Amino acid sequence: MTYLGVDYYPEHWPEQMIDEDLQGIKDMGANIIRIGEFAWHLMEKEEGAFDFSYFDRVIDKAKQHGLDVMFGTPTATFPAWLAQKHPSILSENENGNTRVFGGRRQYCFNSDKYRQYAAGITEKLVQHYKNEEAIVSWQIDNEFGHEGSDMCYCDQCHGDFHQYLENKYESVDQLNDEWGTIFWGQTYNDFSEIPIPKPTVTTHNPTLKLEWARFRSASVNGFTHQMTAIVNEHKGSHQTVTTNVSGGFFDKWFDHEENVKPMDFVSYDNYPVWGGLEKPIPPEAIAMTHDFNRGLLDQNYWIVEELMGAQGHDVIGYLPRPNQAKMWSYQAFAHGCSNMLYFRWRGMTKGAEQFCYGVVDHDNVYGRKYKEVQSLFSEIKEYDELLNAEIKSDVAVLYDYDNIWSWRSQIQSKDFDFNEELLRLYRPFYRKNTNIDVIPASRDLSTYKVVLVPVMQLMDDALASRLRTFAEEGGTVIFSYRAGLKGKDNNIRLGEVLPGPVRDLIGARVEEIESLTAAHQLELQGEGAFAEVPAHISVWRDLLVPEQAETLYSYQDQFYKEYAAVTKNTFGKGNVYYVGGGLSEEALEKIAADVTSDCGIETIESERDVEVYRRHIGGDSYLFLMNHSDKEKSYGNEKLGPFESRIVKG
Ligand code: GLA
Ligand code: ZN
Repeated sequence: MTYLGVDYYPEHWPEQMIDEDLQGIKDMGANIIRIGEFAWHLMEKEEGAFDFSYFDRVIDKAKQHGLDVMFGTPTATFPAWLAQKHPSILSENENGNTRVFGGRRQYCFNSDKYRQYAAGITEKLVQHYKNEEAIVSWQIDNEFGHEGSDMCYCDQCHGDFHQYLENKYESVDQLNDEWGTIFWGQTYNDFSEIPIPKPTVTTHNPTLKLEWARFRSASVNGFTHQMTAIVNEHKGSHQTVTTNVSGGFFDKWFDHEENVKPMDFVSYDNYPVWGGLEKPIPPEAIAMTHDFNRGLLDQNYWIVEELMGAQGHDVIGYLPRPNQAKMWSYQAFAHGCSNMLYFRWRGMTKGAEQFCYGVVDHDNVYGRKYKEVQSLFSEIKEYDELLNAEIKSDVAVLYDYDNIWSWRSQIQSKDFDFNEELLRLYRPFYRKNTNIDVIPASRDLSTYKVVLVPVMQLMDDALASRLRTFAEEGGTVIFSYRAGLKGKDNNIRLGEVLPGPVRDLIGARVEEIESLTAAHQLELQGEGAFAEVPAHISVWRDLLVPEQAETLYSYQDQFYKEYAAVTKNTFGKGNVYYVGGGLSEEALEKIAADVTSDCGIETIESERDVEVYRRHIGGDSYLFLMNHSDKEKSYGNEKLGPFESRIVKG
């Protein structure tokens, strides 16, 4: 059975409205509500006075209306009495300012006090409802590490960071050696002397910054896993466990794959537009978020917050057009979402999120958005089995959080953005409507035909050799710039000609490099089949000297005409491309066309902004059609109105 529903906050409304709301939710075609993730105080008004009677009543009503329940453990918003009694639970920003009570998620992941109280409410809550048939799933906390809450610079964190380093390094001398603290005379005599990267003059040691990022990840994931273990220990066997991943996952200081490891499934909060944005993020950027979430546990996932109304705290922006939010829902189902809840039933009239609009607005009128959700629920219900079918891809994009954190702490080009560089290689294959997995670089590559490796500057020999084997055995690898610059210690390798550990695969060497801006676009000259395909490079450039590889594009500017910008190397039975900078779309689409045809990968030609996603069930195949534009579009005989979407056999 596919779960379809809304996030409901009964505690926000007069109790006598609940039955009417639940009936409205049921009539919309829902079979589940998510409740409770911000209601700690309601369940523990004073320390130790646990009282779940309010939600007992709500859940009884839900059952009367035939609705199941996902319950959120409320540790994202702790009670005021706890902050007053134990201010040490509050996290601190890099300037040492305490994040005061009044917002949310402002707890320190390393606060023993907070872990003690969070464990308390979580255990009591789950024990109370372990036999509750209607509660089918627990959501742990809410959007871990979102809104900057993954960073804390308090003394507790500083002390724990020292312990983390002492556990990792045999001695402070080994640390000094690995970090290169001889530079600027920063040699430490003792771990207790080591700072955390608060503001200083110039900047901190790159390896310190990487270790701090790893420590932040261990802190967030340690808390997550402690809470998850409590839920798993006390929950009913009919209840599953998940947590909701927020957008901007490549801008977070924790490894998401590690974070969700103990979960039964991943949940995602899909907001293609939020806050003051004038327009939604591009279709390929939305698609990539789904492929990322599917990749975390390598299985289909839930969306527990799907946008329907405009969203924002103090600033709001773009209003999703009629059918546009529905289209984004179809896109999510196409990419592996198997169950979906919309955020939220009705917009709140009080508090920080008055402008986070729901399915029903403050006027409580069941209007356009209500009908849009109702139509989506009635249409998608028919495809129960299809939504749960496994998605297989021939193309994978690799990412590694250590690599992402090393870029974040030294961006090298003022316009560098990891998300954009990943999308630069993802986009041309997305536009070929071929399935793409977005996966951690540590994953097995043997099932793929093409592996995309965007800006992997941090690369250990293990990854280099797995990519070598993949290419030798016939795979195609596409690297982009700065590949293999550093080891996992975030240091540059002495005496090694770049691209270091993958020079043989790439069949070219990097002679010099130059940081560019996004506006500084250098025209390139295509060779051979690329001669007629215009191209330019921006953001960064590697000046390549082909060794075994052929040149696809070369630079045209003074002094650098003899250098290659993009190369292709035949390696073993496979091919290896090197994109030596921020290459423009047309050239990348030509490469994707060559690669998909060389590798016999199924592609589907469609108009720009018409996304076509094929899914298989048994021997049948279906196409999800999504028109991302406000114009009339078509796919074959299928006419698609503005933002229209549907599933067809084919
Ligand atoms: C997030 C949170 C919700 C709410 C919405 C608003 O995703 O999980 O609690 O703040 O955003 O859009
Ligand atoms: Zn802290």
